[in-house]
Amino acid sequence: MSSAAPSPVVAPAVTENPTVQICRGINGLDKVVLRDFRGSSVEVYLYGAHVTSWKNEHGEELLFVSSKAIFKPPKAIRGGIPICFPQFSNLGPLEAHGFARNRFWSVDPSPPPFPVNSSNKTYVDLLLKSTEEDMKIWPHSFEFRLRVTLGPAGDLMLTSRIRNTNPDGKPFTFTFAYHTYFSVSDISEVRVEGLETLDYLDNLQNRQRFTEQGDAITFESEVDKIYLSTPTKIAILDHEKKRTFVIRKDGLSDAVVWNPWDKKAKSMADFGDDEYKHMLCIEAAAIEKPITLKPGEEWKGRQELSAVPSSYCSGQLDPRRVLQGS
Ligand code: BG6
Repeated sequence: MSSAAPSPVVAPAVTENPTVQICRGINGLDKVVLRDFRGSSVEVYLYGAHVTSWKNEHGEELLFVSSKAIFKPPKAIRGGIPICFPQFSNLGPLEAHGFARNRFWSVDPSPPPFPVNSSNKTYVDLLLKSTEEDMKIWPHSFEFRLRVTLGPAGDLMLTSRIRNTNPDGKPFTFTFAYHTYFSVSDISEVRVEGLETLDYLDNLQNRQRFTEQGDAITFESEVDKIYLSTPTKIAILDHEKKRTFVIRKDGLSDAVVWNPWDKKAKSMADFGDDEYKHMLCIEAAAIEKPITLKPGEEWKGRQELSAVPSSYCSGQLDPRRVLQGS
């Protein structure tokens, strides 16, 4: 990926901040790079407002992006964090996962500041507004503001604010997901905590409703489930990497768990045959109860990701404490 010279579209407020830069990425697409002085970083493409990289202070990549990902419209980038809006999957008349992930977003050159007591300075606001073309397939006027923040401890925060700007007084309804692809050492060694005993809709069985058993979730075949009314914290424990991802979410009551496994992997042109072993999607989402906004109303959905070193085998990490702690 080239980190070439800043592009002509650079917004003044962005260039003045050395920790936030716009440059050209793959296929000349613009991307914003956020950097923390300790070494962590985040990259987000304007195409799809798509986060494609999140690295910790040691420069280790925490997100999965396929080696076969196509960085070219109209295909959404395979990996990272696609934004699913205004429709999750095929739950409506639009293309799967809606159109936000394959539109060009813009950088807000003068975004609203963080609350005064916040130490966060490393962020960018990306904007998407309905175009005439989009109105033909989804006849609603909206403004979508995605704030991507690299926190002081290397955490990655995504805050979506979606506003109904319909001039005709009409409400609109949408479903939503942060379709996060986490990088894992070996899917067969990974456990997910926080979804035990919950109800889920199984996408592989006509979205029938089932109840999860009491143990942490482990993986040995294709999984495509929508867990309902999930807690605000979910943890992915990666025994081999000695790393735990903690997902904290707000305004997003569902969580999708997806791994295509071997057969489906082979059927996807932009996904390597064996890459399913090294990724896991946990998607903070609003699906079962779609969001309805009246004109002038705004919805906020937030996801915060952190990666903490863990030494699970020596018992230093109690996953329950990860989930219950602050
Ligand atoms: C998941 C869905 O969110 O995304 C799966 O639950 C789907 O059913 C997967 O296969 C990938 O979707 P896409 O459109 O990016 O290939």
